[in-house]
Parts: sequence; C-alpha cells; structure tokens
Amino acid sequence: MIEIQDLTFIYKDEKKPALQDIRLTIPEGGFLGVIGPAGAGKTTLARAVSGMIPHHYTGDYYGSVTVNGMDTVETSLEDISRLVGMVFQDVDSQIISPVVEDELLYGLENFGIPREEIPQRIDEALQKVGIADLRERAVGSLSGGQRQKVAIASIIALRPRILVLDEPTGELDPRSSRQVFSLLKELNEEQRITVIIIEQKIMLLCEFARQLAVLSEGKIVRQGDTRDVLAHAEELEALGVNCPRVTTLSRAVSVKTGEEQPVCLNLDEAEAMVRRLIS
Ligand SMILES: Nc1ncnc2c1ncn2[C@@H]1O[C@H](COP(=O)(O)OP(=O)(O)OP(=O)(O)O)[C@@H](O)[C@H]1O
Ligand SMILES: [Mg+2]
Repeated sequence: MIEIQDLTFIYKDEKKPALQDIRLTIPEGGFLGVIGPAGAGKTTLARAVSGMIPHHYTGDYYGSVTVNGMDTVETSLEDISRLVGMVFQDVDSQIISPVVEDELLYGLENFGIPREEIPQRIDEALQKVGIADLRERAVGSLSGGQRQKVAIASIIALRPRILVLDEPTGELDPRSSRQVFSLLKELNEEQRITVIIIEQKIMLLCEFARQLAVLSEGKIVRQGDTRDVLAHAEELEALGVNCPRVTTLSRAVSVKTGEEQPVCLNLDEAEAMVRRLIS
C-alpha cells in the first residue's frame, strides 16, 4: 500500500510548489491512472512515490510518503527501488547500456539476482513486452517506441511489487500501447502488482485504470473510481484534460434527453446505451 499524507514539495531553487497538500492512498493491487495538464505535477508525483524525491531531487519536502510501511525519507533509494519500479517519461535518461540485453542484465546484476536465474528473467521480460527479437540490438539503432519497450522490459525483469510508469506509451502506436496496457492488466490481476500510470491516451487509460487522480497546478483536484471521476467531464475539460469520446457521448445524451445516463467507459457500454435508446 502507498500512503501519501499532506505532501508538499518545492524543487530546490524554485518558489512554487510542484506538489501541494497531496493526500492519496493506493491499496495493494490497485490500478491508478494519473492525469492532468502539462506541468501539473504528474512526474513529480511519480518521483515522490519511487523515492527519487527526496533522494535524487532535493528541495523543501513536507508531509510523508510511505510505501508498504516504509517512509521514503528514511529508506534508502536502493531499498525503495526493490519494491517500486519506475519507467521514466524520458526513457533515454533511463537506459544506460548500449545493447538491449545488457540493459536488462545490468539491472538484474545490480539487484544481486542469482546468475542461473538471469537468462530466464531476461527471456521472460522481453517476451512479455513483445521484443524478444530486439535482444541483441544496439539501443542507438532503435526507434523511440522500441526504446520505450526496452525500458519497460528492464523494469519488469526486476519484478517490483509496485510499478510506476510515466507516459510509457508516448512513442507507441495504438496497437503497441494497448499491448502495454494488457501486460499491465495481466501483472495487476495475476500477481497483484500495484500499477500507477501517467497516461495521455485517456480512452485507453479509462478502460484499464480502476481509479483516477486528476492533478492541476500541483494539487489533486479529483480522485476516485474512474467512472465517478469521469462523471465530472466538464470540470476536467475546463482543466485541459480531454475525456474519452464515449464519456462525452453519454454526457451529451444525458443533457439532450434530460435523463441521466450512466457514464460510458468503453465502446461496448456506449453501444449498449445507444441500443437502449433506440429500442
Ligand atoms: N527537476 C526539476 N527542477 C525544478 N523544477 C521542476 C523539475 N521538474 C519539474 N519541475 C517543475 O515542477 C512542476 C511540475 O512538473 P512535472 O514535470 O511534475 O509536471 P507534469 O505534470 O509531469 O508535466 P508534463 O505533462 O509536461 O510531463 C513544473 O512547474 C515544472 O517546471
Ligand atoms: Mg511529466
């Protein structure tokens, strides 16, 4: 479980808090989507959960973040990283090895994973992300999307209990993006791995995330079950957060018919609504 209590953080030499009075609880096995406009503090929140704040990024820090009972201020970054794996928004600052396989190997060796276990871990992670064929490729020869998949595979190979992903599909096409979400769903459902994902592809996110947190100017302006948060579509749009078109559709139908429609989260639900209306 992750518990964030009254967290306020101001980066060193900055005046404005990047995060302010954040209160958020993410249960073990949760699947949380984080949304909000540019500069809202999404990445900063990810850094706070993964311990990079305050260990790597310093500044004024108030409140607390505890991960499975460990206060991130009092726990070393190494210990936190055994529990929390993070895929950076900027994958190129994450990948340090020149060859794909070595990138996975590096992390596993660093974690002291027994030698005999390593090849299987690498195989499995590459396969899960669908890049077994890239194993011996030079990282420099890969596309942005492929590098994003390498970063995801290298974190998954470490088998963290909590996964924090900062816009992991930014460079991926719709099909690969869906594959990433399907993998996260599998890890979440079969191994109860907690997933926290920052994502711009709102339709995809809302299909998979059970909970949403909406950030704006460093504050959480709304949090709760995905459907409940999306019921406030106008508020989100006003903040500059797009809502899935199926959600906009169910809102529009509610307004037009004067009859409150349940918020639609995916195409199947939208289709069912339309069928109900025309029958
Ligand atoms: N390393 C840093 N040093 C100083 N200020 C920073 C640093 N990183 C982020 N900030 C500032 O903190 C605020 C929140 O930034 P953050 O990157 O968390 O937002 P974001 O929601 O992830 O934005 P984006 O959608 O562009 O990724 C911004 O005002 C940003 O300029
Ligand atoms: Mg960001």
